[in-house]
Amino acid sequence: MEKITYNFEYGKKLKVCFIGAGMHAYRNVYPTFQYAPVDLAAICDKDEQRAVAYARQFGARATYANHLEMLERERPDAVFIVTSYHPDGRVQATELAKDVLKAGAHVWMEKPTAATVREVEELMAVSRETGRFVMTGLKKIFFPAIEKAKQIIGSPEFGRPSSFYIRYPQDMAPFAERADLRNCFSFLDHIYHPASVIHYLMGKIGRFSYEWEPHNGGSVTTMRFLSGAVGVLHMTAGESGTSPLERLEVVGEGANVVVDNGVKVTYYRKANRPAYGRSSSFLVDDDQAPLSWEPEFLLGQLYNKNIFYLGYVPEVLHFCESVLAGRPPEKGTLADSLEIVKLFEAYRTHPEGTLITLNEA
Ligand SMILES: NC(=O)c1ccc[n+]([C@@H]2O[C@H](COP(=O)([O-])OP(=O)(O)OC[C@H]3O[C@@H](n4cnc5c(N)ncnc54)[C@H](O)[C@@H]3O)[C@@H](O)[C@H]2O)c1
Repeated sequence: MEKITYNFEYGKKLKVCFIGAGMHAYRNVYPTFQYAPVDLAAICDKDEQRAVAYARQFGARATYANHLEMLERERPDAVFIVTSYHPDGRVQATELAKDVLKAGAHVWMEKPTAATVREVEELMAVSRETGRFVMTGLKKIFFPAIEKAKQIIGSPEFGRPSSFYIRYPQDMAPFAERADLRNCFSFLDHIYHPASVIHYLMGKIGRFSYEWEPHNGGSVTTMRFLSGAVGVLHMTAGESGTSPLERLEVVGEGANVVVDNGVKVTYYRKANRPAYGRSSSFLVDDDQAPLSWEPEFLLGQLYNKNIFYLGYVPEVLHFCESVLAGRPPEKGTLADSLEIVKLFEAYRTHPEGTLITLNEA
């Protein structure tokens, strides 16, 4: 298990700038720097009073209202971008990321990376030209529970992952309205969450189709992966606000794993079903029994802070360690974002009930 180093204990740190002094960044991104090799040099927000307040709170030395001026003056190693949306629905961070790459710094950006396949491909081209990389904060693939599921399904005992299910509460506008990006704001904002998990655990989607219901805008998508496995994405729009959001399950060969509510992992290991009609107990031998993990929430531990179990610190650490080592990140790559945005674009351009090819076998 990885041991965490506190910010002040690091010998070598990255010189970092931050674009965006908004709500999510305050709650979940700046606080990760307590545990990362980061020297926060400057913060930029169009609202400079906000930047000043954040600089005071999180220890930055300078503030700016213009990111180009900040990049020119500060010459950072890396820049974190946590901004929002243009009025027409486009993602503000996409263009900002290009500016940062061109200024010679690496980029960590919040999802969504971009709203279209073309924009992600353009970002890939600028990244190649400048030799600087872009990592998107796909937090869910850094959840310790999802990483555990990935490790389990990759083990020989689990067998080949054969089928998959994930639920996520999200609606989609009627098909005719999806051409206008403004009607897809919430869908774009959230599709990166379940889609990043699907891609991380199951690989590329070959083809898919979906059915959509008009009352809540919920949907059920069935997909075949290039691996040959099959999967379901259940977008549970209309569920109660008190319900846990997510559940996923992967079935292997004689084994399956379930992740509930992002923190509870149950591994049903290969086991024989107790003799039908004859077994008086459901308690199988210990070497076949299911394994189950969930955090305790009593001690003042790091693992039960949301910035750890929701993947925020791990994703920032992955980025910082990659930059310090001079190698591109392995997770949250532009190639990952491309698969996600291909799926998003396909929902926008194909009506329910059609069979859509995303990647040729
Ligand atoms: N991963 C997660 O769990 C999670 C959760 C919530 C939000 N988010 C993402 O975080 C991002 C921000 O969301 P939010 O709700 O905090 O938004 P917000 O509107 O509160 O913050 C955005 C900030 O960016 C600033 N900004 C925009 N363009 C700028 C520019 N060119 N230069 C300088 N500053 C600029 C704005 O002034 C604002 O202060 C979104 O991409 C959202 O999808 C992720």
